[in-house]
Amino acid sequence: MPMISARELLGPFFNENPDIRVGWPDDEVALEVKGPDALRAELATVLARFRTVWPSMPLFADIKVNTVRQTLYLRLGAARPPMPWPELDALEASARAALEEWVVPLSRCAEQNGGGAHGGGGFVSLELPLPAEVAANARRDFPSLPDEDWDECYRVKLARMSWHSLRDEVYRFCDLATQIARWTAEQGYSSVLIPSVGLCVHPWLFAHHSLSVIATDISPTALDAVAHPERLPRMYGTAAKERWEVSEAAMWFGGRNPHSFEPMPDLERAETAGALRPRIRFVEADGAALPVGDASVDVLFATNALPREDFDLFERVVREWARVVRPGGFVFSAMHNGMQCDLERFSERLGWRPVDALKGEPAGEATGFQQSFSGG
Ligand SMILES: C[S@@+](CC[C@H](N)C(=O)[O-])C[C@H]1O[C@@H](n2cnc3c(N)ncnc32)[C@H](O)[C@@H]1O
Repeated sequence: MPMISARELLGPFFNENPDIRVGWPDDEVALEVKGPDALRAELATVLARFRTVWPSMPLFADIKVNTVRQTLYLRLGAARPPMPWPELDALEASARAALEEWVVPLSRCAEQNGGGAHGGGGFVSLELPLPAEVAANARRDFPSLPDEDWDECYRVKLARMSWHSLRDEVYRFCDLATQIARWTAEQGYSSVLIPSVGLCVHPWLFAHHSLSVIATDISPTALDAVAHPERLPRMYGTAAKERWEVSEAAMWFGGRNPHSFEPMPDLERAETAGALRPRIRFVEADGAALPVGDASVDVLFATNALPREDFDLFERVVREWARVVRPGGFVFSAMHNGMQCDLERFSERLGWRPVDALKGEPAGEATGFQQSFSGG
């Protein structure tokens, strides 16, 4: 059977539905598909019905490789309409019932190719198996690496980098970074420290708001990559960010309008990165020995930067944060699965007070802090 790329397979369908924003991270992935026309026709039928359940809602789609299931995965979602939760729940329940039924012919078509299709409350998904050789390469993008040697870990990841394998590390929590950057500038603060930055785009988002940034990490390889976004345009470009946004929206299909994402500086252009770079210092440093003076920074913005396993180290890192942030400054920490990393337990001892910067609350005279946890 001839191979067909994801874009050749699904491109005509999306060309006929230009209002749907598509992520297209894995458009070059090649598949073997019996009857691509029939598959597209079934998808079009499901879409027409989908639109009756979610009339006039912005639609978006993500197409990516699922390395665990070894499939190409298409997820088509609708932005949730602005309505009270009970009504939305009822709408989703009825949509789920209808879509489960309507999706059956598409599912049959996908099954003929060894895949499947599902309809849920606000989405439709389609999975097609990857040919063995393609699956093997996709797995290589996500090597399982030991955690101890961070620099080696980043070296391998960057050597095998694809947009799909690193997008989460580059853009994780970047919506929070954007909000906190804007708030930081509004408060009249000027300096920001980002400890254990990894590959995150955050330093550039703060610099974009005219703030002066110090980004640290123990890994020189990660710092070198994030310091030169123009060298990695497939990761740090505006198109890469937009693909990530669409992809996230399609995954969670809630509350985010795919037509109004926060713009990002076009870091793929050497001129843009060059203009912002003088505002950022990238410094190799241990998280418990930051290379700045006491009370010398206004704001500390940290994501997944608190040690999870070792409580003594956690305490040393937080005490280091308290040392470097000036009174009246602000600490923001976001963690995935941060159960052991609760700043609140420490806040009284440190004299910090909670400030809801995400809701625009102004900082006070004492050092403020906010923490955010998310699953996954
Ligand atoms: C879980 S990653 C988080 C990276 C990034 N902030 C994020 O949210 O994706 C932890 C980061 O801490 C760095 N790191 C590990 N041990 C460190 C240490 N002792 N001092 C400073 N950074 C360290 C790693 O290189 C890695 O970039």
